[in-house]
Amino acid sequence: PETITVQELANRMAERGTDVIKALMRMGVMATINQPIDADTAELVVSEFGHNMRRVAESDVEFSIRREADAPEATQPRPPVVTIMGHVDHGKTSLLDALRKTDVAAREAGGITQHIGAYQVNLPSGQKITFLDTPGHEAFTSMRARGANVTDLVVLVVAADDGIMAQTVEAITHAKAAKVPIIVAVNKIDKPGANPQRVHQELLQHELVVEDLGGDVLCVNVSAKEGTNLDKLEEAILLQAEILDLKANADRQAEGAIVEAKVERGRGSVATVLIQRGTLKVGDVFVAGAEWGRVRALLDDKGNQIEEAGPSAPVEVLGLNGTPQAGDEFIVVDNENQARDIAEYRQAKLRQQTAATSGRGTLEQMFTQL
Ligand code: GTP
Ligand code: MG
Repeated sequence: PETITVQELANRMAERGTDVIKALMRMGVMATINQPIDADTAELVVSEFGHNMRRVAESDVEFSIRREADAPEATQPRPPVVTIMGHVDHGKTSLLDALRKTDVAAREAGGITQHIGAYQVNLPSGQKITFLDTPGHEAFTSMRARGANVTDLVVLVVAADDGIMAQTVEAITHAKAAKVPIIVAVNKIDKPGANPQRVHQELLQHELVVEDLGGDVLCVNVSAKEGTNLDKLEEAILLQAEILDLKANADRQAEGAIVEAKVERGRGSVATVLIQRGTLKVGDVFVAGAEWGRVRALLDDKGNQIEEAGPSAPVEVLGLNGTPQAGDEFIVVDNENQARDIAEYRQAKLRQQTAATSGRGTLEQMFTQL
């Protein structure tokens, strides 16, 4: 892609280099004077300074302030993040409930109530698996459309008496588009009409060849109702996770994605965040989409107050100044000024997009909002 250094861009606009660096910072881009930046970013800087507005209005650049990747030696293994998908009534919710009950802590406490739209199962081996409780592949797709690839693998639930149905095929398509590996859970094997072998055969038509048929797709026959083979399903998930070599650096400012967010009476805006790297701590200042805040309290998936949360942990965050959207990026920044600047910039950009799509207002009006 085309690039231009910060210095050159400043020269062309007859602006000071330090002012350009400041403008970039407001957009969440940290750059030095000699650093090349891409054309889309440059266009936005240009618009910030009031030059050449026409081209910018046509560009549609999504800003991410995610930082560089970690050096491999700074990373440690992290738990897999799993989304369960499948046709209506094939047992997604039942399976999530049954898996939740395999949590060692839950067993000790004699059952737990889920507080947030994601939970983590602690296995007897000490390993963990994070499950996202998405209501279906709409959530999966809309989160992906917003740039949040939070799922490491998909468990595809297929009822053994029903076989592959329309939404099973859709789920396969979505998982493949996201390049996320699929593990098949053939559910309801306790039912009289259950025929797992038929499901294995049907999967062939969708290029999913299970191990029994000589392929490499992990497949487990389960009953969510009777709790059959849940340990085998968890083993398969961990095996697939090992193949994926999932790692993250826990020792840095947290980054993650909003799983869900809403306003709750007496608590303000509350978000469920999936931490993807780093460790989130009480008191941290963050940006979440076009909103920002300071962590007032953190709660785990069992509703316990915690001080910090590391990679792959789902956590409820209090202390937002507004309500972000599912799929929005969550990132800890250095201070409130930076957080406010980035959030304001993004809000202005959202207003600009809204104005553009609704066809109201002139270009000049749009940019005075910046
Ligand atoms: P939607 O959220 O509506 O798409 O359904 P779902 O996929 O979450 O299915 P759900 O878990 O609600 O289960 C649908 C029905 O199947 C319920 O009546 C469950 O009790 C039943 N069911 C789920 N798993 C099993 C199972 O392993 N065996 C039997 N016999 N019934 C099951
Ligand atoms: Mg359900």
